[in-house]
Amino acid sequence: MQTDICEITQSSLEQAKEIILRGGAVAFPTETVYGLGADARSDAAVENIYAVKGRPQDNPLIVHVHRDYDLSELVYDDCSYAKALREAFLPGPLTLVYRSRMRVSSKVSCGLDTLAVRIPSHPGAQAFLRYVDLPIAAPSANVSKHVSPVTAQHVYADLNGKIPLILDGGESSGGIESTVCDVTGDFPVILRQGLITQEMIAGVAGKCGVYVPKAGEQVRSPGMKYKHYSPRCETCIVNSIDEAKERLDGYRRRGLRCCVLCESAIATQFSSVPVLDLGETPEEMAARLYSLLREGERIADAMVAIRPNRTDGVMAGVMNRLNKACAGE
Ligand code: TXA
Ligand code: MG
Repeated sequence: MQTDICEITQSSLEQAKEIILRGGAVAFPTETVYGLGADARSDAAVENIYAVKGRPQDNPLIVHVHRDYDLSELVYDDCSYAKALREAFLPGPLTLVYRSRMRVSSKVSCGLDTLAVRIPSHPGAQAFLRYVDLPIAAPSANVSKHVSPVTAQHVYADLNGKIPLILDGGESSGGIESTVCDVTGDFPVILRQGLITQEMIAGVAGKCGVYVPKAGEQVRSPGMKYKHYSPRCETCIVNSIDEAKERLDGYRRRGLRCCVLCESAIATQFSSVPVLDLGETPEEMAARLYSLLREGERIADAMVAIRPNRTDGVMAGVMNRLNKACAGE
């Protein structure tokens, strides 16, 4: 199959709609990462997404809709704090997990009685979702377990030959996946950290929990149990410059090409290896992380990441991705 990369125009939107109506998959930009979208109502279209990505069959998908879509068609939309969260943050990088009305394929939620819904703000995502005017099931548009894509070229590198069309909306500005927040209980509970933080949600809803799976417990967000976001080079994560230098020596003794991933403040401490500079602010680090992980696997056999010295803002989300990328299973 030939994979076209097209800017978002009337004609590429028509092509996208045609592919979606045939049960195919189209990659599209969002403000977080690129998604791989298909008709959420169709079992076959949803199965195709799992097959294209090589995604485990028990990791549910998020349904994406445009900003004027009537959510009550898909979910029980009777929770007052969920309405407040929607007004405050949507369209934007927040996914809400509701009780489902079971109007989409059961394969979207892998048999769960909930449905994750997201209204992305990226103008290209809105144009695509409005044009098809259907609920679109979409995971991130990478091969399962690899680093999520933030450019059309990243999607192409992973899925070339497996999908017909990538809508190119430039680089995703947010850089890490949406916050996933369960709104089925008395108060919101974050299942996956992201650009909308616990403090921001608590500021609107009065209270916000963060779900931490207990050992042996069935996880509420099944994606959490899988290896994720991993570059295809050896990786480790350390706390200090000295520790990083030790690791680099070890890798070098094994004849591996190395690189370092760290925040700007310490980037000048390494002269003999390429340094991938995450930036200074949490937002910068989120925006750069996935491009740098892909750059690392391109230029090196082994990457040493140094934990940034910040804990504010979206750092919880950034550290969640960085730890998973480096720690593996
Ligand atoms: O920013 C994003 O959310 C991107 C863009 C494309 O929208 N999408 C994305 O999808 O990251 P994916 O499939 O890579 O991650 C979806 C996450 C998984 O951790 C999954 O377990 C969780 O959402 N999820 C989906 N449906 C759920 C449900 N009904 N209950 C609990 N967790 C759910
Ligand atoms: Mg993903």
